[in-house]
Amino acid sequence: MNRKDLLGLLQPSEEEIEEILTLGLEMKRRLRAGEKSFGELKGKSVVTLFYENSTRTRCSFELAAKYLGAHVVNISASSSSVQKGESLVDTGKTLDAMKNDFIVIRHPMGGAPKLLAETVKAHVVNAGDGMNEHPTQALLDFLTMKEHFGKIKGLKVAILGDIRHSRVAKSNLYGLKKLGAEVRMFAPATLMPAGLAAMGARICSSREEAVGGADVVMGLRIQLERQKGGNFPSLGEYARFYGVNEDVMKFAAEGAIVMHPGPVNRGVELTEGLIDGQQSYIEDQVLSGVAVRMAILTLLGRGTQR
Ligand code: CP
Repeated sequence: MNRKDLLGLLQPSEEEIEEILTLGLEMKRRLRAGEKSFGELKGKSVVTLFYENSTRTRCSFELAAKYLGAHVVNISASSSSVQKGESLVDTGKTLDAMKNDFIVIRHPMGGAPKLLAETVKAHVVNAGDGMNEHPTQALLDFLTMKEHFGKIKGLKVAILGDIRHSRVAKSNLYGLKKLGAEVRMFAPATLMPAGLAAMGARICSSREEAVGGADVVMGLRIQLERQKGGNFPSLGEYARFYGVNEDVMKFAAEGAIVMHPGPVNRGVELTEGLIDGQQSYIEDQVLSGVAVRMAILTLLGRGTQR
């Protein structure tokens, strides 16, 4: 991979995604063996710039950068000069002037990472931009699938939940289609945006249709903070008519796994039993998150595009 930035999964080729996954699998193996001292980013600096809340993404980027030997600084919009009216572009220029090498950005506006990337010399990694993309989440999802099944080509992946507001669903769709998986989607009509069929998704009319024969069943969080109301009557009714439970999972393929990007609304998108059960790979996804982010930072740093 020879890119300055990782902004989404529409741009990278199948080969670039496979290169990230191959290195990610190696990083995951070494992390499991207890290794925490890698030298790939020795002498480099990484700033995480988060304008939205995060636990998994921010912490795993910070750990990934530290395990790789980088200097790391975390900036939250709530405690930065953004509160005094400083623009994103001026914030980026300030970080560039400090000779910073990487900016990992999460922003509520779709396209903010692209704007920043066009302005700064540092490598920019999109850690989630509005309802647009969350490429590193999708890549960590692929890492968990690839490690478990040994391949992604030919897998049937069912994605159920708040697809309208989900950047995770879009990045998964773009990447999984490149890697040769079948992507099914199911949501209440009010939470299903138009246009995903044209991008290769199979839009299903029931939970059972989506999950039928699926190898991977991925629940997506109901994004309460992005709902304007009226998309569904209540969380209880959502769980009853749209959530994934043990009865729905009986339609999945033998050996199917349950995934969720987190944070989970327990008992809404997935039952407690599925979240904590044998088929759940949700904790594995968290380790994949550190490994795949180590791979992305390493590969961007090795390239010549700056
Ligand atoms: N999956 C995900 O992006 O989680 P956080 O919001 O905790 O980073």
